[in-house]
Amino acid sequence: MVMHLTIEPENVFKAMADGTRQRTLTVLARHELSVSELVDILRQPQSTVSRHLRVLREAGLIQDRREGNMVLYSLPLLHSPSTEGDAGSLSGDLLNWVARQPMVEPLASRLESVLQRRKELSDKFFGRVGHEWDDLREQSFGSQFHLEAFLALLPRSWRVADVGTGTGSLLPTLARHFQTVVGIDPVDAMLDIARRRIDEAGCNNVELHRGDLSALPLPSHAVDLVVAALVLHHVPSPQDAMTQLHRIAKHAGRVMIIEQGPHLEQSFYDRMQDHWWGFERDWLCQQLRQVGFVDVDAHALVTVDRAKDAPELYVITATKHALRKIEPE
Ligand SMILES: C[S@@+](CC[C@H](N)C(=O)[O-])C[C@H]1O[C@@H](n2cnc3c(N)ncnc32)[C@H](O)[C@@H]1O
Repeated sequence: MVMHLTIEPENVFKAMADGTRQRTLTVLARHELSVSELVDILRQPQSTVSRHLRVLREAGLIQDRREGNMVLYSLPLLHSPSTEGDAGSLSGDLLNWVARQPMVEPLASRLESVLQRRKELSDKFFGRVGHEWDDLREQSFGSQFHLEAFLALLPRSWRVADVGTGTGSLLPTLARHFQTVVGIDPVDAMLDIARRRIDEAGCNNVELHRGDLSALPLPSHAVDLVVAALVLHHVPSPQDAMTQLHRIAKHAGRVMIIEQGPHLEQSFYDRMQDHWWGFERDWLCQQLRQVGFVDVDAHALVTVDRAKDAPELYVITATKHALRKIEPE
């Protein structure tokens, strides 16, 4: 936070006219500290330190923030003297001067010990919870957040289509990261659930369309990314479906397909009402190249909670050719 200091000069001079307060500022210029840490460093009673902190705060020379039941004090972030206007330059210049002062002994080594103690407390905590950290992490934040974080690597401005969106399980996540999202599915019952899901999640950048992979209800070159998760093994002609995926992708647009590897599990096949018993990934990659995708790349997905009879999954990514620029002769 950058603070504009508009402070009475009288208060500033009064605050600075005291050795303990000057030392407090010199220490706080190095690190944000609590009252009890300042007591340790300045070797003054807590009531004295608190009184000095009050004077400094009233003069606008320090700021505080609460963290749990602790209040932490620091110097305000300063404009550099060259960019600061006339207003407030007195306290700004004074704090810049304070920040440049060397910290004398024994303040420097006491500050060092306080910071070392903080680090030891933190190390001790993680040393103690090491074996239960994975549970603590998952109980606190769930198991997905770090995976979702990788989406931040992709441009926010993208328009993304989730083809065969089903109940729209991907839609809220996609909607949080991309400008617009289009969910497409041929089954009304699925779209109803997807619609409820996006309403509950408060997404206002998602469109839902009834449509089929044999003729997707989007114009050509419409989206930056096409996702087809667990859907190609339901369509009679995966090749025609891939032609459609290619058609709706913009030039240089991406496609991401999640598919099942080949399997012979009758129980799984019956349960899922699949059209295909999975696909060899090399075959799918080859089909994608045939319809015009380039940079086709496949990765196995590690599905730790996979059912015993469920096939392996993989993801294939590919790119539609960029539109070639016609160079002037
Ligand atoms: C196994 S679900 C996957 C749903 C979702 N993508 C997911 O990962 O949870 C397959 C979905 O594909 C849809 N689907 C089946 N045939 C399709 C087709 N020809 N074109 C588009 N979607 C289709 C189904 O209605 C169903 O919602």
